[in-house]
Formats: sequence, structure tokens, C-alpha cells
Amino acid sequence: MIPDRVTLVEVGPRDGLQNEKQPVDTAVKIDLVHRLQAAGLREIEVTSYVSPKWVPQMADNAQVMAGVYRKAGNRYSVLVPNMLGLQAALAGGDATRPDEVVVFGAASQAFSRRNINCSIEESIERFAPVVAAAREAGLKVRSAISCALGCPYQGEVTPDEVEHLVKLFKQIGVHHCGVADTIGVGTPRKVQAVMERALKHYPVQEVSGHFHDTYGQALANIYACLELGIHTFDTSVAGLGGCPYAKGATGNVATEDVVFMLQGMGIDTGIDLDALVDAGGFISGVLGRPPVSRAGKALLTK
Ligand code: HMG
Ligand code: MG
Repeated sequence: MIPDRVTLVEVGPRDGLQNEKQPVDTAVKIDLVHRLQAAGLREIEVTSYVSPKWVPQMADNAQVMAGVYRKAGNRYSVLVPNMLGLQAALAGGDATRPDEVVVFGAASQAFSRRNINCSIEESIERFAPVVAAAREAGLKVRSAISCALGCPYQGEVTPDEVEHLVKLFKQIGVHHCGVADTIGVGTPRKVQAVMERALKHYPVQEVSGHFHDTYGQALANIYACLELGIHTFDTSVAGLGGCPYAKGATGNVATEDVVFMLQGMGIDTGIDLDALVDAGGFISGVLGRPPVSRAGKALLTK
């Protein structure tokens, strides 16, 4: 039942950097993407086309996309919150065109309002034409369902609330269902209960987990997903990450830690751990702090 291959979607350039207070140079962001793909990551969330007033760090989205040397067969994705974002993502033609867009909603009303300034229902109304236009343009569309395991404002979130949003995204034509533990409060059995709801509506290859590691549960939660056959996870190099609108949320599970665990289990990721650790060392050096990744830290100081 445990998969023998796992796909990691590297979200460090987007989720990892969006919360950084100091502006990170565009050249550094591009360099990071290059290092990640050199390490073998084939799916990379590069940036987001959100309002620069809301998330100033992502304001150089088009420049970053234009600067990335694309490797054939890789998938480069960007977040889009509305039609303006999709139009901006497509405005530069082939030079900046993503392969995939991510529409992001929340299982809790309170977080939806804080993060994208509208209710869950309004967000679906807003996303429906975005998804249709993205599909028309030949892009893959992924969802991110924030607060699937708990909300910093509402508290408990039920599997029913998560399934409600899974169904709404499915109805508007979203290809892939991303289940996100924004504040890292999920634990393995709860994660399985929520993932089972997603698996009722999407095939296993179109369901993924996105675990912030605030309470140190992310690796256990990934293992719990593996037990269900889920084999796609978002991870962030050096454990960077956080959402500016999720109070107390820390970084995503570190790509290095996940690769270390999977390699130890004999599960193929196609990723060169040494090159990945170097990429983590590079971005941590730029940000002026050690990697949050335990495996990254251990291997860098070995
Ligand atoms: P709003 O203020 O309600 O939007 O924000 P609006 O439509 O009223 O527009 C206000 C202004 O923003 C206008 O400009 C628009 O042109 C501009 P003005 O006339 O004032 O000069 N604008 C835009 N500019 C550039 N790109 C756009 C865009 N849209 C409007 N796409 C909005 C609504 C959704 C835009 C805003 O709330 C927003 O950008 N939110 C994004 C927040 C965000 O990026 N959060 C982090 C990513 S999600 C995340 O991290 C969670 C995830 O990792 C999973 C997990 O862990 O849970 C995915
Ligand atoms: Mg996130």
C-alpha cells in the first residue's frame, strides 16, 4: 500500500519566501529555483500573482518567471487569487507562462476573509471563471484548501467543512485537490480522516498534502498519508514558509527532512539530497539564519 515513488512539489520560492519581511532579490529567487531543479525537483511553485499590497514579497512575480530557465518536463506553478492574477500570469506570453495555477480557498470562513478578503462562497464565484479560463489556456489547475486541520481564528475545522470545499472546487473544474494544514495542528489520524474525504472526490494521484510543521507533526502526517497511498506532497527547502495571514504559522515541512525519510524507506523521489541540502544552505545564508530543516542542519555540519 505504501507508494514506492513520491512526487514532491517544492513550494519554497513561494510559500517559503512570501512571509519574509526583508525584500529578497529577484536574482536570488531565480537562483533558488535553478538550484532546486538542479537537485531534481520537477514541480516548483515559483511565485504568486496576488496583490502586491497584500504580499509585497511576491511583487516581482513576472520577473522571476521570466528569469527561470525551464527544464523540459518540469512543471512550474503560480498562485492566482482572481482573474486579475490569472491575466497577469498569462500576460507575458511563453516567457512567463506557468504550467499550472493554484487557486486557494479555506475550509473556514474566518480564514477565507483574512487571506483573500471574501467568504468561501464568494471565493468559489470568483474562482469559477478563473478555473475555466486557465483550463481553456491549457493550464493544469490545483487547489489549496487552507485550514483543513484547524484555523487560527475559528479553531476546530471539521472533515465535513473540508469536504464541502473539496466538492465546490471539483464542481468548478479544479483538476487537483491540495489539502493544507496551514497552522500545523493536524495529527495522523485526523489527517487520514480529512484525506479520506478528499479521496471520495479525487483519484489518489490528484490529492496532495501541504503540511506546515508548527507542532512538529508534519513527517508523521506525511507517513499517515502514505498509508492511504497518497504520493504527492508540498514541501519547502530549509523548512521556510508561513502565511502572512495565519497568525503563529511557521514553515512548511522541510524538503530535506522528507527526502531523508523517504530515502530511508527506499521510496524514490528522484532528488539528490546533497544538492538539495546545498540549496537549503544557500537560501538560509541569504536570509541570515540556519536552515529549519533538521536533516539539512545535520548534513551541512557533518
Ligand atoms: P481585495 O483588496 O479584496 O481586492 O484583495 P480588490 O479586487 O478589491 O482589489 C484591490 C486592489 O488590489 C486593486 O488595486 C486591484 O487592482 C489589486 P488598487 O485599485 O487599489 O490599486 N489587485 C491585484 N493586484 C495584483 N494582482 C492581483 C490583484 N487582485 C487585486 N491578483 C485579493 C483580494 C485576493 C487580491 C487579496 O486578498 C490578496 O491578494 N490576497 C492574497 C493573500 C496571499 O497571497 N496569501 C498567501 C498565499 S495563500 C497561502 O500561503 C496558503 C497556502 O500555502 C496553503 C496553506 O498553507 O494553507 C497556499
Ligand atoms: Mg502554506
